[in-house]
Amino acid sequence: MIVLGIESSCDETGVAIFDSERGLLGHTLYSQISLHAEYGGVVPELASRDHVQKLLPLVSECLQQAGLKKNDLDGIAYTAGPGLVGALLVGISVGRSLAWALGIPAIGVHHMEGHLLAPMLESEKPEFPFVALLVSGGHTQLVHVKAIGDYELLGESLDDAAGEAFDKTAKLLGLPYPGGPELARLALSGQAGRFTFPRPMTDRPGLDFSFSGLKTFAMNTWNAAKASETEQQLEQTKADIACAFQEAVVETIMIKCRRALEQTRAETLVMAGGVSANKALRDGMQAFMQKRNGKVFYPRGEFCTDNGAMIAYTGCQRLLAGQTEPLSFAASARWKMEELN
Ligand code: KG4
Ligand code: ZN
Repeated sequence: MIVLGIESSCDETGVAIFDSERGLLGHTLYSQISLHAEYGGVVPELASRDHVQKLLPLVSECLQQAGLKKNDLDGIAYTAGPGLVGALLVGISVGRSLAWALGIPAIGVHHMEGHLLAPMLESEKPEFPFVALLVSGGHTQLVHVKAIGDYELLGESLDDAAGEAFDKTAKLLGLPYPGGPELARLALSGQAGRFTFPRPMTDRPGLDFSFSGLKTFAMNTWNAAKASETEQQLEQTKADIACAFQEAVVETIMIKCRRALEQTRAETLVMAGGVSANKALRDGMQAFMQKRNGKVFYPRGEFCTDNGAMIAYTGCQRLLAGQTEPLSFAASARWKMEELN
């Protein structure tokens, strides 16, 4: 089965073609980063308008890359939520109309399920059951994945998502948008141990997260430094704060992952979502899982952040399982993954 996948939930327009027999046949992506950079964050209306302009050319480019014609497609998958409603509606409208015109089924995919299954696009795939750590700009979740479509939410962020905390902390340090990768880069030149940030919610049982306090801690540390240090000293301090912040996020996530693995008795951990591209987190988790004789899986770098490939793959699995949907399907800004079960 050959499925075209469309992702337009936020600031990336992604299109890909997945074939259940031959794997990924094409993958195109347009990132709106430069469009939103001057505003320091995603402007929803600009995002929607840009998806409108980019989506159809990306579909043509992807078909060309795969050496296919529209008539070769067996199904269309599109991100139906969660995300920005206007942005989602672009992908939904194009996906559904294309499917209707071609007389093939369309299927709405949950964005986070797409992230969760993205490691399945790699040659070495995780086996069920596993614990999935989903860390993106909008979500931080620990999920017990027993099979495709069988998800148990173990814990999630009660306030800022991990990526959101990275972005906000980067912004207050004056780093450009999107701040996560910028902050990670700056942390490399930071002096570990100069500042110690808290490890929120690790002093009590449970698998929920809270990252908004770390951002406040960073702000207070930065303001205190600005009141007493020279310009030159502040440059190093900025890197030291980035380093301490990242270390706190990584260690907090690792503590919760250890608990989730113990609770579920799973031996495999899957990391996905934008923050899973973070090298400190990957290295830390790799070493930790090796020590446990467990395995950790994550998507290749370009499939950690938003992309069409994860949507094409997930849609293909759902269509192969015989799932169908009515023509009236709508966009969901909020959508719990457990509702997929
Ligand atoms: O999954 P994603 O592309 O979009 C959402 O669905 O939210 O994740 C984007 C998030 C942003 O907050 C971005 O700053 C963060 O992932 N991110 C990173 C890194 N790369 C992307 N955060 C920390 N370190 C990175 N290397
Ligand atoms: Zn995402």
